[in-house]
Amino acid sequence: MTAPKKLYIKTYGCQMNVYDSERMSEALGGEGYVPTETPDDADMILLNTCHIREKAAEKVYSELGRFRSLKDEKPDLKIGVAGCVAQAEGAEIMARQPLVDLVVGPQSYHRLPELERKARAGEKALDTDFPEEDKFDHLAGRPKAKRAPTAFLTVQEGCDKFCAFCVVPYTRGAEVSRPAEQVLREARDLVERGVREITLLGQNVNAYHGHDGGLAGLIWDLDKIDGLERIRFTTSHPNDMDDALIEAHGTCDKLMPYLHLPVQSGSDRILKRMNRKHTAEQYIRLIERIRAARPDLLLSGDFIVGFPEETDADFADTMALIETVGYGQAYSFKYSTRPGTPAAERAQVAEDVKSARLQALQALLREQQQAAQDTMVGREVNVLFEKPGREAGQMVGKSEYLHAVHVTGDVPVGDIRRVRILQSNPNSLAGALS
Ligand code: 5AD
Ligand code: SF4
Repeated sequence: MTAPKKLYIKTYGCQMNVYDSERMSEALGGEGYVPTETPDDADMILLNTCHIREKAAEKVYSELGRFRSLKDEKPDLKIGVAGCVAQAEGAEIMARQPLVDLVVGPQSYHRLPELERKARAGEKALDTDFPEEDKFDHLAGRPKAKRAPTAFLTVQEGCDKFCAFCVVPYTRGAEVSRPAEQVLREARDLVERGVREITLLGQNVNAYHGHDGGLAGLIWDLDKIDGLERIRFTTSHPNDMDDALIEAHGTCDKLMPYLHLPVQSGSDRILKRMNRKHTAEQYIRLIERIRAARPDLLLSGDFIVGFPEETDADFADTMALIETVGYGQAYSFKYSTRPGTPAAERAQVAEDVKSARLQALQALLREQQQAAQDTMVGREVNVLFEKPGREAGQMVGKSEYLHAVHVTGDVPVGDIRRVRILQSNPNSLAGALS
């Protein structure tokens, strides 16, 4: 028997890339690859890339350059680029970086085994199609090995919203939902392998239409799976939060009280230019309805500062919206020009203005996050334990609200236990088993 070849995958960007990397690794498992944690002993290196902001793509090119010496030492080493940069730039990547042997887009990675064989034969292998066939029908069955208690599960890909700043509709394509049966089968399989919490993924996951009852219908079917204890979903567009999904937040015990619902800006003028198709007021009303269904919900959001033509008054509207809504978690970014998107053509905001706004916005969000975390002290939460903590005798897991919680004690990985929160630290909580 020949020794297994080693595969090193580095994942950038969103959670869907984490899921895709796992599936790509499994696809190459059939070709005799086993995973390795370092590029140094790899026979194949795959960078699973993100194109959402400028810096993400630049990081990929600088990382690729670093592999030159490895390839000099080991000419058989194959280097591949997957993900959204692969989709957006295609053959350009090989032109710009001749070290690259293989380029595969997010919709065609079920063809990796063929592409790998082509690359091994010394040819350049490229596939950035949006194929007719469903990649999930063509990927090999998932392995049966036991796995960590939390897992991602992609249920929807692509986006039809066309926000003016965003490359997703171009790199991931049109909105496509996986049929509910296919998703439920995969979920049952994950649960058999030890998974207790599933996060349903989609670029616009609440537009899921692979079930007659939409995302809420899928969640209620997942709710029936014995052994599955927690359901989460990300990421959503405000306009696709339908009544059934809002209601599920109040009535489905397995659906966790955490919602990532990006608004991007609090200025109606900017929201319109962003093509978000809702106003700040509509978003605020929506949050009120969701909180009426689930009062303790922890809300998370995304914000962009310095979108083209954003004035100080527009930015003040965003700060005001944040004050009104109150976020327990948030991600914020300076606007980054993406070639091919409508906003790229418009009058840009100066870099120093963007930086100052980002600083102010992040200070406010940090304050809110810390306050939300501090309110947990004295409360009892349920923690799904995931791994040992950094200090001896400690275990760490996540509360319903996705806060990291440390306890001292010996709890098996995968157990959900009641914990009384004693202390709020900068990025986590400390508690005692009840
Ligand atoms: N510039 C800055 N941030 C962006 N995002 C998407 N496109 C851009 C861009 N061009 C942010 C949005 C989105 C998150 C995933 O990334 O806030 O919700
Ligand atoms: Fe991009 Fe999200 Fe807007 Fe779709 S809804 S275009 S993924 S920001």
